[in-house]
Amino acid sequence: MNMPNDLRTALADAVGAEQVFEGEAIDLRYHSDLRGQPLPRPAFVVRPGSTGEVAAVLKAAARFHTPVTTQGGRTGVVGGADAGADAIVLSLERMNRILEIDPASMTMTVEAGCVLQAAHEAAEAEGMILPLDLGARGTATVGGNISTNAGGVRVLRWGMMRDMVLGVEAVLADGTVLPGLRKTIKDNAGYDWKHLLIGSEGTLGVVTKAVLRLRPAPRSTSTALLSLAHFDDAVRLLRRLEGDMGGTLSTFELMWDDFYELITTANADKRPAPLPVGSSLYALVEVLGADPDNDPVRFEQVLASVIADGLATDAVIAQSGADRERLWAVREDLNEAFANLWPLFAFDVSVAVSDMAAFVADAKASVLSRFPDARLITYGHIGDGNLHLMVGTGHADHDTHHAVDVAVFEAVQRFGGSISAEHGIGSAKRNYIGYSRAPSELALMKAIKSAIDPDNILNPGKIFPDQPEKPHG
Ligand code: LAC
Ligand code: ZN
Repeated sequence: MNMPNDLRTALADAVGAEQVFEGEAIDLRYHSDLRGQPLPRPAFVVRPGSTGEVAAVLKAAARFHTPVTTQGGRTGVVGGADAGADAIVLSLERMNRILEIDPASMTMTVEAGCVLQAAHEAAEAEGMILPLDLGARGTATVGGNISTNAGGVRVLRWGMMRDMVLGVEAVLADGTVLPGLRKTIKDNAGYDWKHLLIGSEGTLGVVTKAVLRLRPAPRSTSTALLSLAHFDDAVRLLRRLEGDMGGTLSTFELMWDDFYELITTANADKRPAPLPVGSSLYALVEVLGADPDNDPVRFEQVLASVIADGLATDAVIAQSGADRERLWAVREDLNEAFANLWPLFAFDVSVAVSDMAAFVADAKASVLSRFPDARLITYGHIGDGNLHLMVGTGHADHDTHHAVDVAVFEAVQRFGGSISAEHGIGSAKRNYIGYSRAPSELALMKAIKSAIDPDNILNPGKIFPDQPEKPHG
């Protein structure tokens, strides 16, 4: 039996020969990193058009013991969708339809390959929103957001992807289709298995469709950038805005001076800095309300009072949609500025909000004690205890990367935090998972993986360590 030929035939039978790609016919986008550099080319790329075709691909893969890595928009940053040279890439890009919007249930049913922004626009056309939002909205897919339990810039109000997934249809490693496309908010009929798949980074099943919970579209948007003198003020400001704005605070993004100076300088030719550099911290805040006549007035009053109380030193309030975009660009127009500083090691960690100030000081000191000249860039979703730290040492070699990882993760462990708040473990962080999970927790995760995917077909080489860098202490 000629195995590759038989697998090729089985895949062609599953999705049609024109949707099976191999060798030179495989586009670089299926096997390149964030900077476009080539990674190993997978054995096959297949592009199913339906759940039945996904199931047929997985049956073929199971029969030929071939690993399968599912891909969405490939905006992940931890290598979670990178496939081995022996693997089949299962791209869901053709399964991108919005199947239904149900205004009475306030749900949207989509195929997994639907781009997040397309889902946003479809919800908005019906007077609702899908609250999950993040910088990669134009490329990331709903399926990818589910597989990573994506977070982003509105988590403090509406939660992470997990909080807006009501049901999923998924295919298991043996091709079994799980029909869980339910619209109910309340459903306690036994184990809620969809939550096992959400955030499992393609290792437990392939989500093919999802029912997402929508919310009423806001009728007013108030956005401001504030400068702050101290981190403690940031947490007090956050809690004050949450209370004073009656639960309508939707975004609170904090940027340290190192981030703000870098981004405003790098983008100086595109747009002026909204506030002068020189403050310790900057907060981008957004309130989404229901009363367009009064919300902006209330927002201005509250900002005036927080400045009077010394929680912020200055503020600029967006007066138009274009203004709002300029303020958001300070937080989101960062790819080019970061690319110019390459190599940078990226962190996405979380600790309790009450520990944030001490943790940030500890993590930075820990890196600087090993690399005194390191460039640090600090920002994050502080309402979620989520810090993004970028570290540049001028070197990209494995030993340097490892030493920086250990410096940051030791600090995370000291505060009982997570080595990944929202990006996931993928391949990049898997050997460090022991800094955030006890051996008993990892054993439970492995037991679940082997019960559901005993032949390790789905996205091998992710999440679980090959050689733990350090056992949990
Ligand atoms: C962000 C991504 C990197 O918050 O998580 O910008
Ligand atoms: Zn983030």
